[in-house]
Amino acid sequence: MKAFLSNQKMSFLFRSICFLFLVSSFLNTFVSSTQHLCHSDQRDALLELKSEFLIQKLRWDISEAWSSFPKTESWVNKSDCCSWDGITCAANSGKVIGLDLSFSNLHGQLKSNSSLFRMRHLRDLNLAYNNFTGSPIPAEFDKLMGLERLNLSQSSLSGQTPIKLLQLTKLVSLDLSSSFEYSDDSSFLSIDESFLHLLAQNLRNLRELDMSYVNISSEIPHEFSNLRSLRSLHLSYCNLSGEFPSSVLLIPSLESIRLSFNPNLRGNLPMFRKNNSLVALSTKSTGFSGPIPDSISSLKHLTSLTLSFSKFSRKIPFSLGNLSHLSILDLGGNNFVGGNLKQLTVFAVENNKLNGNLPVSILNFTQLRTLGLSSNQFTGFLPPNISQFSKLESFLGGDDSFTGDILSSLLKIPSLTDIRLSYNKFSDFTGIGNISLFLPNLQRISIESRNFNKVIGPGVDLNVFSPLKQLYWLLFLGIPLSTTNITSESDFLPNLAYLFLPGCNITEFPEFIRNGRKLRRLDLSNNIIKGQVPDWLWRLPKLFERAKFLLLLLSSSGNQLNGPIPDSIGLLKELRILNLSSNAFTGHIPSSQNLQYFFGSKNNFTGEIPRSVCGLSSLAVLDLSDNNLNGSIPWCLETLMMSSLSDLNLRNNKLSGILPEIFQNAKSLITLDVSHNRLEGKIPASLGGCSALEVLNVGSNTFNDMFPFHLNSLQKLQVLVLRSNKFNGTLHNSDGVWFGFPQLKIIDVSYNDFVGTLPFDYFLNWTAISSKRDNNIEPEYIRSGSGNSYYSLVLMSKGVAMEMERILTIYTSIDFSGNQLHGPIPDSVGLLTELLILNLSSNAFTGHIPSTLANLTNLESLDLSQNKISGEIPSELGALSYLEVINISHNQLVGSIPQGTQFQRQNCSSYEGNPGLNGPSLKDVCSHIKTPTPPQPELVATKEEEESFSWMAAGLGFAPGVVFGLVMGYIAVSYKHEWFMKRFGRNKQQSIRTR
Ligand SMILES: *[C@@H]1O[C@H](CO)[C@@H](O)[C@H](O)[C@H]1NC(C)=O
Ligand SMILES: *[C@@H]1O[C@H](CO)[C@@H](O)[C@H](O)[C@H]1NC(C)=O
Repeated sequence: MKAFLSNQKMSFLFRSICFLFLVSSFLNTFVSSTQHLCHSDQRDALLELKSEFLIQKLRWDISEAWSSFPKTESWVNKSDCCSWDGITCAANSGKVIGLDLSFSNLHGQLKSNSSLFRMRHLRDLNLAYNNFTGSPIPAEFDKLMGLERLNLSQSSLSGQTPIKLLQLTKLVSLDLSSSFEYSDDSSFLSIDESFLHLLAQNLRNLRELDMSYVNISSEIPHEFSNLRSLRSLHLSYCNLSGEFPSSVLLIPSLESIRLSFNPNLRGNLPMFRKNNSLVALSTKSTGFSGPIPDSISSLKHLTSLTLSFSKFSRKIPFSLGNLSHLSILDLGGNNFVGGNLKQLTVFAVENNKLNGNLPVSILNFTQLRTLGLSSNQFTGFLPPNISQFSKLESFLGGDDSFTGDILSSLLKIPSLTDIRLSYNKFSDFTGIGNISLFLPNLQRISIESRNFNKVIGPGVDLNVFSPLKQLYWLLFLGIPLSTTNITSESDFLPNLAYLFLPGCNITEFPEFIRNGRKLRRLDLSNNIIKGQVPDWLWRLPKLFERAKFLLLLLSSSGNQLNGPIPDSIGLLKELRILNLSSNAFTGHIPSSQNLQYFFGSKNNFTGEIPRSVCGLSSLAVLDLSDNNLNGSIPWCLETLMMSSLSDLNLRNNKLSGILPEIFQNAKSLITLDVSHNRLEGKIPASLGGCSALEVLNVGSNTFNDMFPFHLNSLQKLQVLVLRSNKFNGTLHNSDGVWFGFPQLKIIDVSYNDFVGTLPFDYFLNWTAISSKRDNNIEPEYIRSGSGNSYYSLVLMSKGVAMEMERILTIYTSIDFSGNQLHGPIPDSVGLLTELLILNLSSNAFTGHIPSTLANLTNLESLDLSQNKISGEIPSELGALSYLEVINISHNQLVGSIPQGTQFQRQNCSSYEGNPGLNGPSLKDVCSHIKTPTPPQPELVATKEEEESFSWMAAGLGFAPGVVFGLVMGYIAVSYKHEWFMKRFGRNKQQSIRTR
């Protein structure tokens, strides 16, 4: 039988070879009979095109998903251009009709006078995966009127896409997509509002449209449903908003639609009809909502359905079970599915609320290759006969409550190559010792623990992985590790490319890294490594190959690396991002021309701010906060302001002198923080022209100025901190000019010398705090201008300083405490319905507590203490159910306290110093023995008191004040969500794409 089969195979092989031979000789004749077709003008144009770019040598993608080589190498003069790589000529005329320079390492600007635009006969043009260094798409593309396919994806183009592109009415395929991985800097293409309307009108033949990562920032117009030939529509990460026209989903020819990662895009799934071609549908991380219709069963061709992280209601129709081709099912916020899904190879139900034991019925999916369970509420053990998954390759669990030794259960599935266990509660690593014995093919393992201190045993000996020669990805987070058993001579993990060991109690640079010839990424942050960065690190062949895109993770925080920043860092000419925060580096700041982001906070930098930073003309972020810098702020920073600086953070140094007038042309400036220094003088008038400014923090200096009314015009200002200075005068503009901040959410002018009264309409124009927030929009953090990091702020509440590493945009706070304001509290305070924290303490306010305060239904903290407020507490305030902290002590209040539960919960000290305040309800509060409370505020918080701690610490170990408890909760929840989107969501999407 066997012999017979192989005979058959042999003859098949033989016939194939003959066939191939015939074909190739036929081709040879064909080609030779059509030789020298190339027109000389076209050849010249092509050679010119070649000379316009720097052609780089072989390049590898970080994920090794592709490699590229310069096709133009075969382009030499005197040969027939129709035979060159990437060129297609028309058979009869010899004109160049196709140009495929994808993956060809072109480097340089795509200029509007490029000879490309002389190739008038082109029908098919592919320039994907090159590096056009952020240049815009030239409008001259409109000269290529015959273009049917235009592919500019992943080629580092940026800026506004010219509308003239839409004059190419013959286009059937248009690809403008990019992604974070390939974009050279973080700038992407964008379009203006009319673009999509015109596109739907002009490009009627369009079959493929990919604009993923193009900043669209508007709605998809209804006209899109007129694109009757459309087969694929890919609009992921486009910042789409509004309602997606569901008629588009019903276009009969549509095969693939991806709308994922557009959190502000709303939509519903329509009643699907029988005549449809849909193969793949993704609305992951969008605002799509409503039910999944029964008619989903009409999508007979569907193989991939990704609806996770959307807002679909919970029930999944049984009809889903009729989709017999479905191989990828990724559902979020839904119930478990039954039915006939035997073909399923990917089962992903991450981030549902599934609970209980993992249903045994799941074992029926015997074809399963990927099992994704993260972020549910599964408990108990994995099913005992889990080894039935004979094809399972990836087990993605996390945030579940599986107990027991999960690892040992997984060891029963020898096909596993990828294990990810993030944030499980388990802490038993006994299985780990056997891992290489049972799973010899393991390629990737991630284990992230929350139970940092509860890990059983002495921690994990990394040496147990040494037999896993295929392992390329190793991630341990928060798990004590020992690396001492690995000898530095051994060929430890020869394929290791990604090594992430944050928070693993590592005390010194693991020597084995030295042999990491393939190592591409390294994260040793949050360990306790002391000493200098070893010099061999800079010489690892792969590690810094694409350093220009990399955060230099190795020292990002928590280590105590010291010594001067090694000079050898200058070897990394392409370095764009350098993050050295939270170490003990000294010495000078490296000057690499290409540096865009420099994070140097929390080190031991001393002396003056080096003038050399002013020469870093690409710099967007300069963070030197929490160092020992002294001297004045250099004038030459004006050069950076004029170019591209968006974030300047000099917080907590010993800088003195004035804040110079360097902001005339600072159009890109988004955050400016010079707080906690020794600066004096006035707030520069030029700041009033920084139209992009969102955060201004000059707190804790000795500025001596009036309130900066000129900042009033800043349409984007969200955070204004003037606290602890010598600001004086009134807080309102007496000349009757419009006053208010359209976007201001946090204002802290406390502990200054402000005087005067606040007029009754004072809060009339504080739009951002008084307009109702759209609860459908996920709260975000205030990002630093670069978009790559977050703005942090030290906030004071009840004498406790809190460093918020990220500020949610829904966070709102008004702090006027510690001044000499008098007169009544303006009634217009009742307009600030989104306000969370109001502090007017330690002033000389008189009059009554405005009953309009009862409108502030979101208020969490109210401090009116140390004033001269009289009258009764309005009983309406009892209804404020979020009010966690109330302090009205040391006033002249009378009567009793409101019946609301929040008032009863306070400590007696919140009311003391009001001789007229009595009544049975107060007796109730004051007679109870309360648990000790945070210390009462000192009137002026000194710097020493402001011992800051990060929210991480607060969230994990420290019981934060009630007010912040809530805010912390928000942060933790959203952070996790984001973590998922970034780490997990995108990884998965990639793996699907490469399938
Ligand atoms: C295109 O214009 C640039 C100036 O912007 C010039 O240096 C270059 O020589 C021009 N190239 C061609 C092909 O004309
Ligand atoms: C554009 O080119 C890239 C690289 O060849 C390819 O992966 C992608 O599918 C192309 N886009 C379209 C729409 O064909």
